[in-house]
Amino acid sequence: MGIKIIGTGSYVPEKVLTNHDLEKMVDTSDEWIRTRTGISERRIASETEASSDMAFKAASRAMEMSKTKPDELDLIVVATITSDRITPSTACILQGKLKAHNAACFDLQAACTGFLYSLEVVNALMTSNPKFKKALIIGVEKLSVITDWKDRNTCVLFGDGAGAVILEKRVGKHDIGGILASKLASNGDFCELIKVPAGGSSNPTSAETVKKRQHYLSMEGQEVFKLAVNEMAKACQDVLLRAKVDISEIRWLIPHQANLRIIKAVGNKLEIPEEKVYINVHRYGNTSAASVVIALDEIVRTGKINRGDYILLTAFGAGITWGANLLRW
Ligand SMILES: CC(C)(COP(=O)(O)OP(=O)(O)OC[C@H]1O[C@@H](n2cnc3c(N)ncnc32)[C@H](O)[C@@H]1OP(=O)(O)O)[C@@H](O)C(=O)NCCC(=O)NCCS
Repeated sequence: MGIKIIGTGSYVPEKVLTNHDLEKMVDTSDEWIRTRTGISERRIASETEASSDMAFKAASRAMEMSKTKPDELDLIVVATITSDRITPSTACILQGKLKAHNAACFDLQAACTGFLYSLEVVNALMTSNPKFKKALIIGVEKLSVITDWKDRNTCVLFGDGAGAVILEKRVGKHDIGGILASKLASNGDFCELIKVPAGGSSNPTSAETVKKRQHYLSMEGQEVFKLAVNEMAKACQDVLLRAKVDISEIRWLIPHQANLRIIKAVGNKLEIPEEKVYINVHRYGNTSAASVVIALDEIVRTGKINRGDYILLTAFGAGITWGANLLRW
């Protein structure tokens, strides 16, 4: 038996915000952003485009690729930190838009690691419950609404977008592979490193919190950088060891697209050739839970993946959370 990805899709908003555009908004330069982060441009959703709208477009593409009808979906999981509303879940809002009335739906919040967490959670649910045969997982973010466009330390880093996969339980004897091993980890001692300080139950939105700009994301970049490199590399080594797969057998390493220097440092630590490390951070910036799954969809749609290939995913984010999944295509 295997839980297999049978379709992928992604969507990024039309509006492109370049580093040169940012030069006009904050005290920064194209040169600084490119050399420190590798980012050249990012996509920004329109005012009327919510996370569920982007999720709908990515999901529709994945369903089209896998020829999945809405009523075949048994589960919809949306990984996001920018849900349409506090409640109901974006997964339920998406279910309504898709008319996928047979699905159980919930959101999963593990920041930039959300898609990787969702893969393993759905894998476990599908393995243990015979009712779950087909599932839709989305990673989606409209980070532009929690980005402080006056803070040069963070506003150059983020972008909006969505990615989707359809998973199916396969029971045939040739249906080996799927999700081979996952490592999910977190450490709440570091919960202050990346945060949105206000708008939740500990510090509800008030005129004061808005004035202090506490409903925007803040981050201690350098500390995050060091932790991210070490933990992503260790998580990858962990899943490789458990699945008895050598790094030389990996076709693609897809790291969370936060910063080119982090991506390269993880690749170097794992001693994987550069050409096997997928990079699109220059085009989209950090799209949090959407980043790894948008990259996966690009690889699939450009024919850069073959049946039997090993794919290693890794990510790191607020919480802090981190992890890795080893997939066999
Ligand atoms: C944020 C990040 C790009 C900053 O890069 P860095 O090399 O660590 O830069 P520093 O924070 O040391 O800042 C260096 C200087 O550049 C300045 N700076 C920060 N942002 C700037 C910008 N957009 N433009 C110009 N200068 C900037 C700082 O103020 C600082 O100036 P100072 O030395 O006069 O104080 C980097 O730390 C990073 O990518 N961290 C991880 C972030 C991440 O991945 N977060 C999400 C995890 S999911």
